[in-house]
Amino acid sequence: METKVVVIDKTNIRDEELLEAAKILRRGGLVAFPTETVYGLGANALDEEAAKKIYAAKGRPSDNPLIAHIAEYQELEGLVAGIPGAAGRLMKAYWPGPLTIIFAKSSKVPYGITGGLDTVAVRMPDDPVARRLIRLAGVPVAAPSANTSGKPSPTTAAHVYQDMNGRIDMILDGGPVGIGVESTIVDVTGETPALLRPGAITTEMLRETLGQVEIDPAIAGPVGDNVKPKAPGMKYRHYAPKAELVLVEAEAAKDKTAGGETGEKPAGVSPEVIQTICRKALEDMAEGMEVGIICTDETRDRYPEHARVRSLGLRHREETIARNLFGVLREFDDLSVDRIYSESFSEEHLGRAIMNRLTKAAGYHVLKV
Ligand code: TXA
Ligand code: MG
Repeated sequence: METKVVVIDKTNIRDEELLEAAKILRRGGLVAFPTETVYGLGANALDEEAAKKIYAAKGRPSDNPLIAHIAEYQELEGLVAGIPGAAGRLMKAYWPGPLTIIFAKSSKVPYGITGGLDTVAVRMPDDPVARRLIRLAGVPVAAPSANTSGKPSPTTAAHVYQDMNGRIDMILDGGPVGIGVESTIVDVTGETPALLRPGAITTEMLRETLGQVEIDPAIAGPVGDNVKPKAPGMKYRHYAPKAELVLVEAEAAKDKTAGGETGEKPAGVSPEVIQTICRKALEDMAEGMEVGIICTDETRDRYPEHARVRSLGLRHREETIARNLFGVLREFDDLSVDRIYSESFSEEHLGRAIMNRLTKAAGYHVLKV
């Protein structure tokens, strides 16, 4: 299959450019498109056969459900069995935006997109290309991140091309995304709303809107084979770079009794973390390994010259870190380094999403110093 790439100017979207993509979706084909979080791989959410093509193109296990993307509030009614009060408050506060809500599904939604679950994930993205495309398609669009299963989510059209060229009908290139980590997922089907995946709508924001919010244990660490995480996708080793990734974190900062009254991690990175990364990198390189280091603008000059040092951006501006994270992980795949050491980040606000992705990419290999 030939994959057509269409470049879209976000500041001047012309329907002619999107009509072909909309037609492909209506006819059961696959179109990758930008959203504000990461690029999505879209198909008609009400067409089970089209959804199957998504799983095939990504190599994704079929028990991992897809998010249905909508452009208008009216579209929600057809997809869900009801709209709980908490969902109403969330939609009012954060839609369109980087928030996915889990509802009880209506009979119209095929089990082929929900991984056999009686619930459905729905999101109204804010990206103008995504919204216009969904509107023109006239159907809800099922879209996982447009990466090969197990790779970091794509934040540019070039990432999508790398993974999907020859496997899908079209890629809409709307430039690099703004946020860079996938949407926050909140399940409102239980008594208390539960956070299933952290994202740019932070836990602090959700608590402000909803009061009590549970945090699914699958976010904090690996779940055993006998435990079913509420978001089936959380059990897979997502975002895995080819090289071994070691996250280096300061011990005292995490210790709520020893680390000062608040137990907060320091705003900066501790000298022990930098020293440990330097020592480990030098040891590995002495053995002939290629070593990558993930740091920030503030610390990039502190690391050995012969290591492949990549900054994620400014530590005090978390949004730059989130935006660059997956791109840097992909870059290390292309450089074929043997081992990567990464600084760690505060788990407040957007930091929780950043650390969730980094810890998973590291296969939970965290070195405390
Ligand atoms: O930002 C995003 O959410 C991007 C863009 C394209 O919208 N999409 C995305 O989709 O990240 P995906 O498929 O890579 O991740 C969807 C996550 C998976 O972990 C899946 O298990 C969970 O959502 N999910 C989907 N439907 C669910 C359901 N009914 N119940 C619980 N979790 C669900
Ligand atoms: Mg994904």
